[in-house]
Amino acid sequence: MARKKLQRFEDIKSFSFYLETGYFTLQKQAFPLKGKWRKDFFKNYNPLIVELACGKAEYTVEMAQHFPNKNFIGVDIKGDRMWVGANKVKELELKNVAFLRVPIGLIEHCFDENEVDEIWIIFPDPQPKSRVSKRLTSPRFINRYLKILKPRGLIHLKTDDDDLFNYTLEIIKNFNFKLIDCNYDIYKERGDDIITQIQTFYEQIWLSQGKTIKYLAFQI
Ligand SMILES: C[S@@+](CC[C@H](N)C(=O)[O-])C[C@H]1O[C@@H](n2cnc3c(N)ncnc32)[C@H](O)[C@@H]1O
Repeated sequence: MARKKLQRFEDIKSFSFYLETGYFTLQKQAFPLKGKWRKDFFKNYNPLIVELACGKAEYTVEMAQHFPNKNFIGVDIKGDRMWVGANKVKELELKNVAFLRVPIGLIEHCFDENEVDEIWIIFPDPQPKSRVSKRLTSPRFINRYLKILKPRGLIHLKTDDDDLFNYTLEIIKNFNFKLIDCNYDIYKERGDDIITQIQTFYEQIWLSQGKTIKYLAFQI
């Protein structure tokens, strides 16, 4: 691993709001804060928003500033990417953010039933048709989210990928979820809001390649 990456992996561990655990440990035992994030970590009973595959966590950091009365947790497997968001959180002295380095495939080991209010998935790896079960909106993952989301909890997806977007619309229909919002081109269809204002690292790449950005939100 490059030295800069390794340094970031080490650095981030010094932040009190950064937590991690390995795959095999998590498989054997639940994450210690499972069911206790509000009470033991945030020390309040505010809504809990989880950003999956957060990368540099642009959404987590921005939303935490817009909504100080909500708690945010950025989840990714790459600590060096979360390091970028974690440094902003430190600089801004935000108290309503945590970062969690775990595989999303074990997310139900980290949160209890009804513990999460919303899940945000921003530019996840689209995965080719041959690997649909690896998509973060595939039934395999949706069934995990159903274990941790509150009734009528929300899931948001932002992507450039037509195939992933249309696939997710099909999943919403098959599960009988309620589609709350759906844009095939956010910059044509939406005004100035959190969906158009925040551009993540990956969104900027796709925009520079002339791709259109899609967004949907649904209620379970
Ligand atoms: C294309 S990047 C998007 C990052 C960020 N949301 C953005 O828009 O810039 C996808 C992210 O998903 C993370 N990821 C993919 N599969 C994962 C998994 N199973 N568990 C945790 N993180 C995962 C990767 O580490 C990567 O940071």
